[in-house]
Amino acid sequence: MGLEVDHAFVQAPEHRPKPTISEAGGIPLVDLSASDLPALAAAVGAACRDWGFFQVVNHGVPRELTERLAGVERDFFALPKEEKRKVKRDEVNPLGYYDTEHTKNVRDWKEVFDFVVVEPSDDLPLDGDGSLVLKNKWPQHPPGFKEACKEYAKGVEELAFKLLELIAISLDLPTKRLHGFFADQTSFIRFNYYPPCPYPDLALGVGRHKDAGALTILYQDDVGGLDVKRKPDGEWARVKPIPNSFIINVGDIIQVWSNDRYESAEHRVSVNSERERFSIPYFFNPASNVMVKPLEELVDDERPARYEEYNWGNFFKTRKDSNFKKLEVENIQISHFKKA
Ligand code: OGA
Ligand code: NI
Repeated sequence: MGLEVDHAFVQAPEHRPKPTISEAGGIPLVDLSASDLPALAAAVGAACRDWGFFQVVNHGVPRELTERLAGVERDFFALPKEEKRKVKRDEVNPLGYYDTEHTKNVRDWKEVFDFVVVEPSDDLPLDGDGSLVLKNKWPQHPPGFKEACKEYAKGVEELAFKLLELIAISLDLPTKRLHGFFADQTSFIRFNYYPPCPYPDLALGVGRHKDAGALTILYQDDVGGLDVKRKPDGEWARVKPIPNSFIINVGDIIQVWSNDRYESAEHRVSVNSERERFSIPYFFNPASNVMVKPLEELVDDERPARYEEYNWGNFFKTRKDSNFKKLEVENIQISHFKKA
């Protein structure tokens, strides 16, 4: 009697997780309560440059907000599938519940629920052809779900803008240089649920990828499973959960804005056969009409622009569509806009 393996989840041999994986150790830890702003910006800048991935403590998001949100997350995923499917994602609107997402055309061992932090008004065109729809689908159960989401979103948004300022300062830009891109932002929050997996050596919770937006602020529970690719040696390292911390990672947009001074880090989620795991990323994304390109202050004759400009709304929609089901074409990536 063999184990029944569903091939949709099986990673190519070179992308399967090794049975043992080192703990990251080196991933930077930044204490955001430090009052010396230039020193703090320098620490954030170094973390963005060397890793594109770091942990923050004393981040100012009240613990109660995160705990309440983690509670409704658990309660929601514990509901029967037919209840969860009442708010399921569809072909036009990428928000809501979804249990068959693909990353790079391999199915992820997870269930998700997505909502946008600010619901765009109907008269705002989100992408070139008006086909991007972002309308939240709120479940009836558990009680207090929507309220917990809204409260948390407010708290984390403050942190997101604070990090954006620190990043701007670290790049020798005016403190609020990047703020304007986030009026009419398309940020969204995702609930990730990773059930125990009978073949954790073959499947992944989320396949290797880089986050497409500007910044990601991730809450994870104490189980662990998030792996980051270390820059110096290209080896995978496990990010150790620290209570009441967030993991911050640079997304593709910061990579382009900074003209490659900061690079988005590749990461993935390993699963395990015993414990379920929960996480909550906040994807801090600009407005859909933003044309993403290297900032002019960071371009000169010595370091010409390394990317062609692209429209965020179209990129976002194309990426979302490609995760909806298995396709035969490659996922859209910023490398497609890289100049020769
Ligand atoms: C993601 C992601 C990490 C995690 O959803 O993009 O990388 O720990 N999640 O769930
Ligand atoms: Ni990610």
